[in-house]
Amino acid sequence: MLYIQNLKVVNFKNHRDKNIGFLPKLNAICGNNGTGKTNLLDAITYLCLTKSYFNTADSQNVKEKASFFTIEGEFMKNENQGNMFCGFQEGGKKVLKYNQVPYEKPTEHIGLLPLIINTPADGSIVSGSSIERRKFIDSTLSQTDHDYLNALIRFNKFIEQRNAQLKLFEKNNLFDARLIVLYDEQMAPLNDYIHKKRKLFFAAIDPLFLQHYTNIATKSELVKMAYQSEFTSTEYLTIAARNYKRDMAYGYTTSGIHRDEMEFSFNNQPAKKWASQGQQKTVLLALRLAQLQYMEMQLGIKPILLLDDIFDKLDRHRCSALINLLNSDLVGQVITTHTNQDIFPHENKIILDENEFLA
Ligand SMILES: Nc1ncnc2c1ncn2[C@@H]1O[C@H](COP(=O)(O)OP(=O)(O)O)[C@@H](O)[C@H]1O
Ligand SMILES: [Mg+2]
Repeated sequence: MLYIQNLKVVNFKNHRDKNIGFLPKLNAICGNNGTGKTNLLDAITYLCLTKSYFNTADSQNVKEKASFFTIEGEFMKNENQGNMFCGFQEGGKKVLKYNQVPYEKPTEHIGLLPLIINTPADGSIVSGSSIERRKFIDSTLSQTDHDYLNALIRFNKFIEQRNAQLKLFEKNNLFDARLIVLYDEQMAPLNDYIHKKRKLFFAAIDPLFLQHYTNIATKSELVKMAYQSEFTSTEYLTIAARNYKRDMAYGYTTSGIHRDEMEFSFNNQPAKKWASQGQQKTVLLALRLAQLQYMEMQLGIKPILLLDDIFDKLDRHRCSALINLLNSDLVGQVITTHTNQDIFPHENKIILDENEFLA
């Protein structure tokens, strides 16, 4: 099993110096708005995924008026204790160390301490743009499969270069298909590999997702999830060659796995238009649990689950269904956050006091 035992942050966002102990199962961080609950979850995200969940630059996470931050965590993974360190100094490079050994590249660490974080902003996975949904897919597969992560990084670099080349053609009013073919030949195997992995991923999580949805909703609703990709029937090279003219006219690459889509529907209507907020939240939760089970199947260990403000907007039935799930063997360590202390029973309650920030 995997869990964080202790977290120590210095100058991280609103926290000057904080040391917190966690228990292996269900932990709650309680405190009023702005006391830094989400920030603590983000600190744990740094330790597991090497960066902030909120796409902020490291420098923005240094406490106001300070010049560095450090985050340190003691983890138990199976029977072994591990110490993960992340430090950032203004003007310097982020330092990541596991058991005192520095990493050369942050990506080397991905997958060692698997993590799922869910925040209120993640409603966008259901109702926002396809970028958010691809981020969900990529975050899962990158943690379970290094080849996927490397293929994705390389593919994205090629896309950048290919787009720059297309823009240059446009500027010079000249098009040389041979140059684009050179990119495409390198991108094709990456594209088809990523597509294949995503297809397998969807096949694996679809039944898990449906089962969890029905469990949390406590009734069956016609909810569906589908993976849409141009590459299901045709290979990258064929599609790319077909779209040269269009790419040229648009000045960017219009086909590729960077355009894949994942769609949720209710009664055959798109979930983003149709579903209530509570239903969207249920979709998201069911998706997180499916994600967790998928990661466990791949890694042989349950990821740590961080649930930010999760009980908000759920009716009592769904709250108690959820708390049963969190207490079950389905999940490993869970850390939730709450604005009030009157919560469902948790093993460990951490109370953030706002007065300490006034000093
Ligand atoms: N770099 C920073 N320095 C100081 N305070 C910060 C920094 N980044 C964020 N904060 C503060 O952290 C507070 C929010 O913390 P957050 O974890 O979102 O609270 P909660 O989740 O408990 O509502 C905000 O008041 C914000 O201004
Ligand atoms: Mg918060």
